[in-house]
Amino acid sequence: MSAPATGSFLETIETIRKRARKHMEKGAVTEGYQAPLDTVLRLLNEALATEIVCVLRYKRHYYMADGLNAGPVAAEFLQHANEEMGHADEIALRITQLQGAPNFNPSGITDRSHAEYVEGTTLVDMIREDLVAERIAIESYGEIIRWLGDKDPTTRRMMEGILAVEEEHADDLLSLLAGLNT
Ligand SMILES: [Fe+2]
Ligand SMILES: [Fe+2]
Repeated sequence: MSAPATGSFLETIETIRKRARKHMEKGAVTEGYQAPLDTVLRLLNEALATEIVCVLRYKRHYYMADGLNAGPVAAEFLQHANEEMGHADEIALRITQLQGAPNFNPSGITDRSHAEYVEGTTLVDMIREDLVAERIAIESYGEIIRWLGDKDPTTRRMMEGILAVEEEHADDLLSLLAGLNT
């Protein structure tokens, strides 16, 4: 795409300057914000619920990991739990920047989450369930990223960063399964 001609760009700047003084209470959300805000906030709250469910599931697995091979696996569960918590924080912060309210209400959290909370009994069960949850997050976050397109680059970049970590998590879990000769 070529840059706008100087004249029209200056006119645009004049309009942008005027608009920026209106609705200052909306902070970072300007009239030029191009995504449907309600939908973005709903999707981000679903992603937030997904991350919280993942924190809880990984914590449960960390404390329940038992047996000969449990040490390194439990360490991985704990690391993933902490990283999912970091994702939840990033998403909650972005929701507030977009003038929304992060939903931390425990009631309904599993309904809002894309991934499920499955306890699993054996170490292998736990790893498999975590891998399934990561693969769900990878697909649903990919959908969100493609849907955002260039309408909200900041939210898209954040989700891209999170997606990359979920892909690492899935790969870690696959390696753990391979190490346990399943
Ligand atoms: Fe995550
Ligand atoms: Fe993850």
